[in-house]
Amino acid sequence: NWTTGNVIEEQVAAIREQVGDKRAICGLSGGVDSAVAAALVQKAIGSQLTCVYVDHGLMRKGETEQVEKDFVAATGVQLKVVDAEERFLSALAGVSDPEEKRKIIGREFIRVFEQAQAEIIADAGPEVAFLVQGTLYPDVVESGGGTGTANIKSHHNVGGLPEDLEFKLIEPLRKLFKDEVRMVGQELGLPDEIVQRQPFPGPGLGIRIVGEVTKERLDLLREADAIAREELTAAGLDRDIWQCPVVLLADVRSVGVQGDGRTYGHPIVLRPVSSEDAMTADWSRLPYDVLAKISTRITNEVADVNRVVLDVTSKPPGTIEWE
Ligand code: XMP
Repeated sequence: NWTTGNVIEEQVAAIREQVGDKRAICGLSGGVDSAVAAALVQKAIGSQLTCVYVDHGLMRKGETEQVEKDFVAATGVQLKVVDAEERFLSALAGVSDPEEKRKIIGREFIRVFEQAQAEIIADAGPEVAFLVQGTLYPDVVESGGGTGTANIKSHHNVGGLPEDLEFKLIEPLRKLFKDEVRMVGQELGLPDEIVQRQPFPGPGLGIRIVGEVTKERLDLLREADAIAREELTAAGLDRDIWQCPVVLLADVRSVGVQGDGRTYGHPIVLRPVSSEDAMTADWSRLPYDVLAKISTRITNEVADVNRVVLDVTSKPPGTIEWE
């Protein structure tokens, strides 16, 4: 009989047994899965776990603080935060192609994460033998069911480490679906803002700016996105929609009029979707008054945005994200 209590008890015992007196590292993305996986492992092995959060500067407003403050407060986890905004932005400079952006963000992420790992190992010694991952059941099915180890190349600027480190994986959510993960997170005392969070792509706002990614554009998109999220929450719609990407068409300008003058600003796209599993999706029929409020606020409050448009494409043929 499935209960969250059983799952937690079972996993805590299994993780304790697996880890013994060794240590584990867990990357936090700000998303539900890694947060719940980390909280579960924290419950099992406490200070033998160190979490790493790479701030790539592509997060939404308030998300880094949520990890740094709320998650740490709820779990008491040891957290290493790496501020890598400048590194990501310079790697992304001049790049507009979506696949290239994804590759760069993925590559830089692994480099920064491995560097952080190497530093933790240099501090804690070779007993760091485990890597925690928030793999869910659908991920297991999609990838053919394999599990096991991860090879991490150590960095030459951290002395005294073997050339290649092999980590064993801890994947405490491997048997669970998303809604079950949320229940486990809730039971573990994680705040609602983390447990009920809608999906957000690893490459973050980097793939929600159509065009080159710059600090100014990210700040602009962060403001627009925060307004949309605020209004959707205020209208009680968070649970009705799967997610609502907010996209900046940075290479597009259109003519507008505001106050006494002509404007020539960027459009913001709202992409609210309903879905069961993100494999297919339909555009959400949001109430017009909510859309109107979001539109008015974004055009009033976000400089250089003079138009808000609604994406009414299902998936397929559209994907949920624009890039
Ligand atoms: P698409 O755009 O393919 O998105 O319809 C399906 C779901 O996946 C999310 N997504 C990602 N999640 N890393 C992630 O962790 C990624 O690179 C990524 N790309 C898309 C997207 O937000 C949607 O929920």
